[in-house]
Amino acid sequence: MPIVPGGLAFGLFCIRKSELTAGRVLYLKEAHTDTGTAATARPDDEKWMRRALELAGRARGQTSPNPMVGAVVVNNGRMVGEGYHHRAGESHAEVLALQMAGEAAREAELYVTLEPCVHYGRTPPCLDAVLRAGVRRVVVAMTDPDPRVQGRGLAGLRRAGIAVTEGVMEREARRLNAAYITYQTKLRPHVVWKAALTMDGKTATKAGLSRWITGEPARELVHQMRSEADAIMVGAGTVLADNPELTARLPGKNVADIRQPVRIIIDSHLRSPLSARCFSPELPGRTIIAAVEEAPPAKVAAFEERHISVWQGPADKSGRVDLALFLSHLAQLEITNILLEGGATLAGSMFDRQLIDECRLFFAPLFFGGGGAIPALAGLGVEQPAEAPRLVDPESRWVGRDLLISGLVAYQSFPAQPGGESNSADSPNCSRCQAPEGGD
Ligand SMILES: NC(=O)c1ccc[n+]([C@@H]2O[C@H](COP(=O)([O-])OP(=O)(O)OC[C@H]3O[C@@H](n4cnc5c(N)ncnc54)[C@H](OP(=O)(O)O)[C@@H]3O)[C@@H](O)[C@H]2O)c1
Repeated sequence: MPIVPGGLAFGLFCIRKSELTAGRVLYLKEAHTDTGTAATARPDDEKWMRRALELAGRARGQTSPNPMVGAVVVNNGRMVGEGYHHRAGESHAEVLALQMAGEAAREAELYVTLEPCVHYGRTPPCLDAVLRAGVRRVVVAMTDPDPRVQGRGLAGLRRAGIAVTEGVMEREARRLNAAYITYQTKLRPHVVWKAALTMDGKTATKAGLSRWITGEPARELVHQMRSEADAIMVGAGTVLADNPELTARLPGKNVADIRQPVRIIIDSHLRSPLSARCFSPELPGRTIIAAVEEAPPAKVAAFEERHISVWQGPADKSGRVDLALFLSHLAQLEITNILLEGGATLAGSMFDRQLIDECRLFFAPLFFGGGGAIPALAGLGVEQPAEAPRLVDPESRWVGRDLLISGLVAYQSFPAQPGGESNSADSPNCSRCQAPEGGD
C-alpha cells in the first residue's frame, strides 16, 4: 500500500474500488448521484462543497456527540449565506447559513455537508427551516447515519419538489466525520491509536523508559489531538511506568481553559496508586477507571471518595476488563471518540478485538534495539500476513524530525476474537463498506 506524502487529514479514509477484491461490498458511491427531482451536478458544486467542508472543520473537536457540519447558500453564483455547527445544542449549519442569507435564500442553492435532520433533538428539525427558506436545490455530501435520519431528510426535500444532488465530495465528508460514523453505526466510540515508535518499532527501552521518543513538535501535536478528543485511554501499565497526567496542554493556554478529554484508565484489579498524577483532584475534567467485578471493594471506595468514577463489569476470558463491553458503556455517556495512548498490552488487546478504527503513529529516527525493549503491540496478533489488519489509504507527514503515518484500519475477514466485533473490510457490518440500513 503506497504511503502518500502530503497534508494530513485525520478521519475516515474510504476504501477505493481499485483496492478491493471482487465480491466485497462497497459503500463508496459514485459522486454526483442525482436522484428524485432532476438535479444536474454543476461544475461549481465541488467548489461550494469544499467551502462547506472547510467551514465544518472549524469546529473540530467541539461538536461531539454531533457531527461537524458546514453549509453555504449560493444565489446566482454568489455566496449569500454560510455557517457551521459550532457545538451540540447550538444551531445547525444550514439554519445559520439560511439565516445569514435571509430573503436571498429564495430560489437559491444550499450546499450542506450532511443531509438536513428531520427530528427534534437539542434543536428543531433542519428540514423545516430549509423548506421555509424556499431554496430550489439542495446539494449534500453524505446522508446522516443517525437512525433517526438515514435518508429521511433527503426524502422530505424531494417530496417538497426540491431538486437534490447527493454524494458531492462524499469521501471527504465521511473522512471528516469518521468518529461520528463509527459512533452511529457501531454504537461505540471511534478509537484512534496513537503511539510514538522508534525506527525498530519499539515504544520503550529494555528498561521500560519511553520519555522521550518523539521531539517537541510531535508532542505538541499530541496535546492538540488530546484537546480535540472526547477521551484519552491508557492501561494500568502506562500509569505505573510513566505516571502521565493525561491532560491536554497547549502553549500559552491555561489547562483549565482547554477542553479536557475524559481520562480513562483500564485497570482490572485497581493496581494503579491513588497518588498517580492522573487521579489528582486538582486536575480539570473527569477520570473514569475501568475494573472487573472482583476488584477489591476497598480500592473501589477509595477511588470513588476521590470523585473518580469506577466502572466495573464481568471479566473477559483473560480475567481482565471486557473492552468491548466497556466501550459500549462509554457510548452511553456520549463519548464518541477516544485517543488510545496505552502501551503494547492494551493496544494489542484492542487490535485483537478489532476495536481500533484509526492509527496515528509517530516514527522517530531512533533505534532502541535490545530483545527486551517493548514493541508497539502485544496481544495475540495474527499468524498469516494475509490476516493482518491494515491501514487504508495511509497518509504521512513530517512533524519536526518525526514521521507521522495515519489512516483508518481495515480488518480482514478472519473471525472476530471473543468479546470483539467484526468490522472487517469484507464484513457486511463494516461501516465503511455498506450503507447504514435505510440510508443511502
Ligand atoms: N511510546 C509510546 O507511545 C508509549 C505509550 C504508552 C506506553 N508506553 C510504554 O509502554 C510501557 C507500558 O506498557 P504496558 O503494555 O504495560 O501498558 P498498558 O498497555 O497501558 O497497560 C497494560 C495493562 O492494562 C490492563 N488491562 C486491563 N484490561 C485489559 C485488557 N482487556 N487487555 C489488555 N490490558 C488490560 C492490564 O493490567 P491488569 O491485568 O492489571 O488490568 C495490563 O497489564 C511503559 O514502558 C510505557 O513507557 C509507550
